[in-house]
Amino acid sequence: MRYTRLGHSGLQVSALALGCMSFGEPDQGGHRWSLPEDESRLLIRQALDHGINFFDTANVYSNGSSEEIVGRALADFAPRDEVVIATKVHGRMRPGPNGGGLSRKAIFAQLDASLRRLGTDFIDLYQIHRWDPEVPVEETMEALHDVVKAGKVRYIGASSMFTWQFAKAQHLAEGNGWTRFVSMQSHYNLLYREEEREMLAFCADQGIGILPWSPLARGRLTRPWGDTTRRSENDAFGSALYDTDSGDRAIVERVAEIAESRAVPPAQVALAWVTQKSPVTAPLIGVTKASHLDDAIAALGLDLTQKEMDALEEPYLPHPVAGHTIIR
Ligand SMILES: NC(=O)c1ccc[n+]([C@@H]2O[C@H](COP(=O)([O-])OP(=O)(O)OC[C@H]3O[C@@H](n4cnc5c(N)ncnc54)[C@H](OP(=O)(O)O)[C@@H]3O)[C@@H](O)[C@H]2O)c1
Repeated sequence: MRYTRLGHSGLQVSALALGCMSFGEPDQGGHRWSLPEDESRLLIRQALDHGINFFDTANVYSNGSSEEIVGRALADFAPRDEVVIATKVHGRMRPGPNGGGLSRKAIFAQLDASLRRLGTDFIDLYQIHRWDPEVPVEETMEALHDVVKAGKVRYIGASSMFTWQFAKAQHLAEGNGWTRFVSMQSHYNLLYREEEREMLAFCADQGIGILPWSPLARGRLTRPWGDTTRRSENDAFGSALYDTDSGDRAIVERVAEIAESRAVPPAQVALAWVTQKSPVTAPLIGVTKASHLDDAIAALGLDLTQKEMDALEEPYLPHPVAGHTIIR
């Protein structure tokens, strides 16, 4: 496993982060395709055996069940100090006022709930899952600074939003001497490259780590166009993101051609493309089978040529912004 620093921070993370949205009791929350605890534990163990030290979950994943499963597995399998636990806040965890969002009250309550579910007294990377237009960003940034100073959080990060929003938050933190974000989780893969317009360049310039989410377009880059799986048939958010063919089919076919010429599965090619894109730090990989993890590890060693990178990118057409406003 390769390790790298998360942006300009001192935090060392593996070049792959295990996305833990796949783990959660299927009858809790909106992910009917997620894996129950016994199956999840096998994959978490396998990831640790491969040297992955970076685990990404969220309070909303399977309504907290992902955090519970990940917390118990990591406590059983690894010393706390050796793993980097990332989770997120913003999504609604209960109906009614203050049940979600990024107010001071919600952040303090949701952080304590995540700590309880994860069975730990600190989060390594606490991320805002989206922008909250209803809360002054000053309130959010000061609250995040306070939870760092209270020792409950080591670093803070953000996820999908417009670059101007992210820049505004960073500027505000800097001006007030508050903790700055060290990472951005962006929707980024061969089927969705709109982040190349502004966000990736901003992060490279500012030394902010980039963590692409859904690097395989929730599986669509791994199989022939139109093929389905249990997950894809039960993944409403994925259908909303990808299931209109705006030139995507040609990209999926290009991935398959290069995979065939290299005699490797398409997943390896699509993931190798993400890991080779500067300034990506570590994609958040989604796995529901042991072989998915093996492919992800192999992708780190698959060195695509510039010609192959260009061929993969060539069919892309601009897409409408997707993934900024809905939380899953
Ligand atoms: N910040 C955010 O808003 C946000 C949003 C989404 C996700 N995330 C993070 O990103 C992580 C990854 O998201 P994702 O699961 O959508 O990632 P993904 O890597 O795009 O998709 C994972 C899916 O691809 C398929 N797959 C993976 N490897 C494969 C292989 N070798 N061969 C064939 N199929 C393969 C599997 O589909 P099947 O299960 O259908 O076989 C798997 O469930 C999440 O766990 C979460 O941590 C964050």
